[in-house]
Amino acid sequence: MKRYTGLIENYRSRLPVSESTRIISLGEGNTPLIELHHIPRLIGKEVKIYVKFEGLNPTGSFKDRGMTMAVTKAVEAGSQAIICASTGNTSAAAAAYAVRAGIQAFVLIPEGKIALGKLAQTLMYGAKIIQINGNFDRGMALVKEVAEHAPVTIVNSINPYRLEGQKTAAFEIVDELGFAPDYHCLPVGNAGNITAYWKGYKEYFTGRVCANTPVMCGYQAAGAAPFALGEMVDNPETVATAIRIGHPQSWDLAWTAQKESGGWFDKFSDEQILAAQKMLSQFEGVFCEPASAASLAGALHDISTGKIPEGSIIVCTLTGNGIKDPEIAMQQCADAKPVTIDASLDAVKRAILDHI
Ligand code: F0G
Repeated sequence: MKRYTGLIENYRSRLPVSESTRIISLGEGNTPLIELHHIPRLIGKEVKIYVKFEGLNPTGSFKDRGMTMAVTKAVEAGSQAIICASTGNTSAAAAAYAVRAGIQAFVLIPEGKIALGKLAQTLMYGAKIIQINGNFDRGMALVKEVAEHAPVTIVNSINPYRLEGQKTAAFEIVDELGFAPDYHCLPVGNAGNITAYWKGYKEYFTGRVCANTPVMCGYQAAGAAPFALGEMVDNPETVATAIRIGHPQSWDLAWTAQKESGGWFDKFSDEQILAAQKMLSQFEGVFCEPASAASLAGALHDISTGKIPEGSIIVCTLTGNGIKDPEIAMQQCADAKPVTIDASLDAVKRAILDHI
């Protein structure tokens, strides 16, 4: 049996590493592509929807794909410290891979605006956390400035190695299905991931945009939707804190992905995003974080209007694990409080029979 040892080893020939590169890995990638069985039936449409569940990466998000590459290359270049601005997931991944590499991680996060699980992880991994009384966009600007004055390597997705690692998700999908989907739906924040997938699909088909590459659909939260609006947003707001971004870093690259693939951007309300998150949990057994569910919210909308036609094969990337944001999950289930009963056989029996 061949042991799986991470995406760099798996796709070595398509990534910028050499024989002597020390690989910093936690066994990321190789995440499940799950076909939805119930939701297509519920909406009464003849479509095949798969979700690429990136929440099953080592730190619970797709950021691990980019971070294994970025930290591997930072260490190769002799860096002793990495830095990022983050809405939570990048900081958790940076912190974990820094520990693995034996270097220091600094993370800038917007105070009070990152999900509890992400903060807990980053603290546990022992990163130096710097909270700012500003949003992600401000943090990103500060990180770019400070990196000119201190010996730290930026590991946000403006670091090209991040996109190199993240493109492997597209490789995995084509390897598994035997072809690319017709449509690929993603939540969009900084737009690094949609850029990376598009790069991956094109590289898989030898650098060509062709009949085999998918249409890329990027979905944003209505209060943080610079791509859908066609202009930067100064005070982004959404319950999906992971994508609470108004000034995306990969602006031009994502527009290129949209144009080349014949795709589009759109925006959805927090209510629509949360409804999709709950639907995935309650009808499919897949628990993703709110931002991730924007991909399904968008796909379901575009299927219902016929923009995505029946007969299509669709992949939605679920970027992060639902466990990262327990506070939103509890709010989502506020009317489903657990019952408390006597610790007796009789009472337990009654509680069960009441539900059958
Ligand atoms: N989904 C989740 C769960 C994310 O954490 C992010 C970005 C995105 C989607 C959007 O991906 O930026 O490549 O378009 N999170 C970053 C962070 C900003 O700091 O964790 P993108």
